[in-house]
Amino acid sequence: MRSQNELPIQSTAGNHPMKRHHTAGYYARRVKENLTTRVFKLICAIFLTMLFLVGILTFVLWLSLRPHRPRFHVQELSIPGLGQGNRSAKAHIIFNVTARNSNQNVGFYYDAIKITVNYRDQSIGGETLAFPFYQEPKNTTILAGILGGNSLRVTAGQWRRLVADRWRGVVVFSIELSSTIRFKISTWKSKRHRIHATCPVAVGADGSILATDKDKSCQVYFI
Ligand SMILES: *[C@@H]1O[C@H](CO)[C@@H](O)[C@H](O)[C@H]1NC(C)=O
Ligand SMILES: *[C@@H]1O[C@H](CO)[C@@H](O)[C@H](O)[C@H]1NC(C)=O
Ligand SMILES: *[C@@H]1O[C@H](CO)[C@@H](O)[C@H](O)[C@H]1NC(C)=O
Repeated sequence: MRSQNELPIQSTAGNHPMKRHHTAGYYARRVKENLTTRVFKLICAIFLTMLFLVGILTFVLWLSLRPHRPRFHVQELSIPGLGQGNRSAKAHIIFNVTARNSNQNVGFYYDAIKITVNYRDQSIGGETLAFPFYQEPKNTTILAGILGGNSLRVTAGQWRRLVADRWRGVVVFSIELSSTIRFKISTWKSKRHRIHATCPVAVGADGSILATDKDKSCQVYFI
């Protein structure tokens, strides 16, 4: 802009005194302005570089801290009594679910975990396990137990349907886990989040988990 403004003056004036008149103050000011522009540009460049570096740092931090949700896998589910087709043979359910924290830097604080076994959308038993515990990064914790007695409530009607399903070769259950969890990154702890996992599992005629469902992963939700 400035150089365009300056040109017509020079061409119309065309003589030395006029041009000289310019030079003293004008060029000094111009050099000063140039310097100001340069300093300004430098500051801008430094600022943008810093912004860029902070962006990269944030991205790297996010990549390394990015929390993976907890992972649950069903290792075992069996109803030995079902294999014998005999309800009075003290029906009980054996379960084994692994809870994995696959994070590098994030720990999990679990409150008690409630486990329920559902059959046709109805609970047939359950209990609360693993009292509040901390799960460190890269840890796998086993949630295993036996439901029987008071923790198993199979009605006569449900048992008849179970046995009927068993004769067809497959009985489908769903293991439900629910708890609340806090995430820990360094010394920072998140607030509590309600977590729910649902694991559909099929049991064969022998009352044991189908080989294809072993190590099956559960769906995890935060509520
Ligand atoms: C059921 O189990 C009980 C106890 O194990 C046994 O005494 C009974 O004979 C069994 N009944 C059948 C039909 O297998
Ligand atoms: C549960 O399953 C895991 C993985 O297969 C196994 O290592 C562990 O011994 C099992 N625990 C129980 C109590 O069955
Ligand atoms: C995972 O954590 C539990 C509870 O702190 C501990 O008993 C278990 O040994 C740990 N497992 C591994 C593989 O470190």
